[in-house]
Amino acid sequence: MGVLTLVHILISFTVCAEALRRADFPPGFVFGTASSAYQYEGAVNEGQRGPTIWDTITRRPGRVIDFSNADVAVDHYHRYKEDVDLMKDIGMDAYRFSISWSRIFPNGTGEPNVEGLNYYNSLIDALLDKGIQPYVTLFHWDLPQALEDRYGGWLNSQIVDDFVHYASTCFKEFGDRVKHWITFNEPHNFAIEGYDLGIQAPGRCSILAHMFCREGESSTEPYIVAHNILLAHTGAFHTYKQRFKNEQGGLIGIALDSKWYEPLSDVDEDTEAAARAMDFELGWFLDPLMFGHYPPSMQKLAGDRLPQFSTQASKLVSGSLDFVGINHYTTLYARNDRMRIRKLIMNDASTDAAVIPTAYRHGKKIGEMAASRWLHIVPWGMFKLMKHIKEKYGNPPVIVTENGMDESNLPFSRLESVLQDYKRIQYHNDYMSNLLDAIRKEGCNVHGYFVWSLLDNWEWNSGYTVRFGLYYVDYNNNLTRIPKASVEWFSQVLAQTQKTAIM
Ligand SMILES: *[C@@H]1O[C@H](CO)[C@@H](O)[C@H](O)[C@H]1NC(C)=O
Ligand SMILES: *[C@@H]1O[C@H](CO)[C@@H](O)[C@H](O)[C@H]1NC(C)=O
Repeated sequence: MGVLTLVHILISFTVCAEALRRADFPPGFVFGTASSAYQYEGAVNEGQRGPTIWDTITRRPGRVIDFSNADVAVDHYHRYKEDVDLMKDIGMDAYRFSISWSRIFPNGTGEPNVEGLNYYNSLIDALLDKGIQPYVTLFHWDLPQALEDRYGGWLNSQIVDDFVHYASTCFKEFGDRVKHWITFNEPHNFAIEGYDLGIQAPGRCSILAHMFCREGESSTEPYIVAHNILLAHTGAFHTYKQRFKNEQGGLIGIALDSKWYEPLSDVDEDTEAAARAMDFELGWFLDPLMFGHYPPSMQKLAGDRLPQFSTQASKLVSGSLDFVGINHYTTLYARNDRMRIRKLIMNDASTDAAVIPTAYRHGKKIGEMAASRWLHIVPWGMFKLMKHIKEKYGNPPVIVTENGMDESNLPFSRLESVLQDYKRIQYHNDYMSNLLDAIRKEGCNVHGYFVWSLLDNWEWNSGYTVRFGLYYVDYNNNLTRIPKASVEWFSQVLAQTQKTAIM
């Protein structure tokens, strides 16, 4: 490391440690870390767990870059107690994790599996025992394979009832202690990656003449899947309201992935393109949940490939949220796609927006990259996204349900240098400062911030090649957890400041 870099790091480290404090955020603001079942738990053949669409896709060649799967992952299933201690050590208030549907219902539906219920009961109790609030995601992409086989999973509206049955079971079993529910994680990504590009489970697509996927229809299936997800969310929300809310008093939200799209130039066509890009990503879900219909730009561009809400469904979908969860990592420029050549080549849903997203303006990159190629570090995007949500949707309660960055998992790097994750510290400092500005200067109604992630873990198509954790996981030495520098930084930010009474 060069002397200048070191000096720079020391200065910024000192500055940020002084600059950001828990006390700067509104009273009751919640800090936590986030995870998901498939990326963390491992133990895929234990506790009567049924197989999921992710167990299936990881066995197909060419889907995961390092040929790995999550059969072991970071063994959270067995080590959750020590992991809860790690959260406590940082001073976190909350933990966002997901329930694996196929641990509760190995075949997707029917009678709940006691071993699955026991596991999540123990995890929830271990958290509460340490004063950490559980924030529970019901669907983080790992659909029981049985439902995929039986009727095509999310493509079939039958899944709405099965999801509501699963959700109600979780409310009934865990709702005495769980007060924050997140129905779905990143439905936009799930629909596009799983049914348009076919990269993620269930791996369906039709792009480039079915070169990548045997089956699928990239121009229609993402819209059908998203529609069924919205109906399933709505069903769960109203079931909770009718049967559980009075007694349990919890809140229900959804975690939507959203980049910020900045117009490439200030000409109208690019400003409009950026607005369309937001419509096709965030608005696809948040417009129905707030207004009861899809964004007008989507209705126009996708036409009758976009399902419609009946009058009654529209009333039920609209307002079916207590808070909006936002998973935000990065920002891109957007420019108008005048020629629509990409649409001709791809013939899919993602090109319906007629937007060319790019990380470059006049040859200059929008921000430094993390290890993942999609993750450009653009802290001001957080501010603009929060302001957009406030202005467009009437300032609903927002929780940042994910934010974070990764470094590469390189086989020969020295542990000591990997643990010095100053780039991550800078990332969180800058994104959190922008979030704070959005709260203070714009009055954005933000209630919490969750770091992705507590631990390094299994990152879907990237397998174990990237590390998103505050804690390093030593994959060569019994999955030992070792704190990176960011653990110390967060524990300083989160420390309750002692108010000394001076009399
Ligand atoms: C799931 O389905 C399989 C095959 O139909 C059956 O053998 C098994 O008993 C079922 N498991 C549960 C828990 O219902
Ligand atoms: C690996 O770590 C686990 C959890 O800390 C521990 O229970 C186990 O004994 C360790 N195994 C070995 C071989 O050190």
